[in-house]
Amino acid sequence: MAKRTIKQVEVAGRRVLMRVDFNVPLDGDGAVADDRRISLTLQSIESIVGRGGRLILISHLGRPRGAGYEAALSLKPVADRLGELLPEHTVRFVGQDCLSEEAARAVASLADGEILILQNLRFHNGEKKGDEGFARALAAYGDIYCHEAFATAHRTDASLVALPAAMGDCPKVAGVLLEKELRYLTEAIADGRSGGGRFVALLGGAKVADKLGAIENLMGKVDTILLGGAMAYTFLKALGQEIGSSKLEAPLVQAAQAAIDAAAASPTDLILPKDHVCGKQITRMTPVRVCVGSIPPGWMGLDIGPESAAQYVGILREAETVVWNGPMGVVETPPFDVGTKLVAKAIAHATDAGAVSVVGGGDTAAAVAAFGLADRFSHVSTGGGASLKMLQGKRFESVGLLDDAVASAGV
Ligand code: 3PG
Repeated sequence: MAKRTIKQVEVAGRRVLMRVDFNVPLDGDGAVADDRRISLTLQSIESIVGRGGRLILISHLGRPRGAGYEAALSLKPVADRLGELLPEHTVRFVGQDCLSEEAARAVASLADGEILILQNLRFHNGEKKGDEGFARALAAYGDIYCHEAFATAHRTDASLVALPAAMGDCPKVAGVLLEKELRYLTEAIADGRSGGGRFVALLGGAKVADKLGAIENLMGKVDTILLGGAMAYTFLKALGQEIGSSKLEAPLVQAAQAAIDAAAASPTDLILPKDHVCGKQITRMTPVRVCVGSIPPGWMGLDIGPESAAQYVGILREAETVVWNGPMGVVETPPFDVGTKLVAKAIAHATDAGAVSVVGGGDTAAAVAAFGLADRFSHVSTGGGASLKMLQGKRFESVGLLDDAVASAGV
């Protein structure tokens, strides 16, 4: 069910506690290297402060030990970047601890239209543990809870589950980005299923286990599942093919076989690469050859081959809905980025022609951005794990706790 959004609540003079996912990469100097997860929350932020709300932003960054302040995982660089993105506003940031007296004073002294960022929630071990006491302490900071952390929505950390629960009857709403992410990822699958058009799922990347759940969920819902990336070699092994020293997840060969069997009995076509760009090591200087079918000993498949790429491109260009998670090869090591680039361009062309395309996964989103194609997709998700869980058909407890749109209409 659709959720009530931040734009549907009165915020003037009220303290909005907004859980964002500002878990962004930092460069060697400790500055924000990619601010997409920050810039995409600006609509929610501006909606709140523009209407006189008092905004308190809470987030995690990385995976600290949960035993107090760690300078390398401070949210200070994030606060600095947010300040740069919002030159008209003062973005305040508080020290080393989100529950310190200093933090409480900063919250209490916030004026209408002001923004405050608290320190990394995971410096407290109560965050990862979902601790109710930690959540109650945070709950005292806000009158309204806003969930704008799609990329962490699959977690049950305290700020995502215990906190909204601790806020009792306060409004609990979705941010603009969360609403968009849920809409695209839910509707792409639902509409693809009912729309009758060509619905294609493109799955790649390294981990077989992650993708098996998505294959299971999409089977029967999509017309075609195209597989690539390192995970494909476990499936090819299940078919009895020689894969040389390609990445193999031996314990999952049987599960891969079961998925192939299930596809054969379903209306969904499951397509594996027929040829491979192979190397001896994962380096730019390694010798390279194309192997059709079997891969000889000492060689590993590092990208889909030209024949497979042409086949995938043909299917993708005809698609009306595409969901994509996971690169086709070792995209960060040319020449093994070619297959991923070709499918990305094909999806961009299909989108130009009216298809709906949804891309998820950190590596895939980064690749699409590096190819300069990000704005030619319908939606590039900010979530890696979270978008994959949605392809697996999983529901998020953190989203279930938000107010339903219809029940709260008219506020
Ligand atoms: C992510 O980057 O996937 C999210 O911020 C979640 O981070 P986590 O995997 O450390 O919970």
